[in-house]
Amino acid sequence: MSAGKGDRPPSNLPEAGPEPGHEYPELPETRSIGAWRDAAAHCKACDLWTKATQTVFGEGKRTAKVIFVGEQPGDKEDIAGRPFVGPAGRVLDEALEAAGIDRDTVYVTNAVKHFKWRTGGKRRLHEKPNRSEIAACRLWLDAEIAILKPQVIVCLGATAAQALLSPTFKVTKERGKLIPSPLAPHVLATVHPSSILRAPDDASREREMRLFVEDLRAVAKVIRGLC
Ligand code: URA
Repeated sequence: MSAGKGDRPPSNLPEAGPEPGHEYPELPETRSIGAWRDAAAHCKACDLWTKATQTVFGEGKRTAKVIFVGEQPGDKEDIAGRPFVGPAGRVLDEALEAAGIDRDTVYVTNAVKHFKWRTGGKRRLHEKPNRSEIAACRLWLDAEIAILKPQVIVCLGATAAQALLSPTFKVTKERGKLIPSPLAPHVLATVHPSSILRAPDDASREREMRLFVEDLRAVAKVIRGLC
């Protein structure tokens, strides 16, 4: 199955492809999400695999109509091998529930599938993936989108929105709005749930959570329209 350049219209997004001197593992010829997950486990298309515990591929129903795309796995996800199972995942779960979206009916993944981190005392501190790491990982996200053919894609935060929509996309300005895109009939972006955890005080955290739930209610409305 082709999940790469041929499927995508020209855009101003960085070309998907491995970093110089790097290669993808052998790619499946089938549309089996499990086969693509297994292949991604051996990805060395950039250097992030050297420090990460494992590839964290997306997870959810093969029939999911909605894909949520985050940035990259965090510390907990890196260890568990599953996306959004740490603190940001708990915020996402809470907001999905408040918006009336059942997490078991959606597919959750990331723009980058290895945890990028630096040492900070005894902890591993999150580092933002760069453009070439995002471009190297794009093949896997394209495969997930091509196989699931979602009706709705939700970008969680600037990294996902800039990877999928436009390098200059501003989540603060465009959040919650439907954005025309060849990727799916309905595409929108909202904040990353970890930004809510970083809010400076309880009042702003509550306000940010309310706004996040409002954006997800817009997603729920789109989903209801599909039924
Ligand atoms: N943040 C993300 O963007 N993705 C995860 O899976 C966890 C935290």
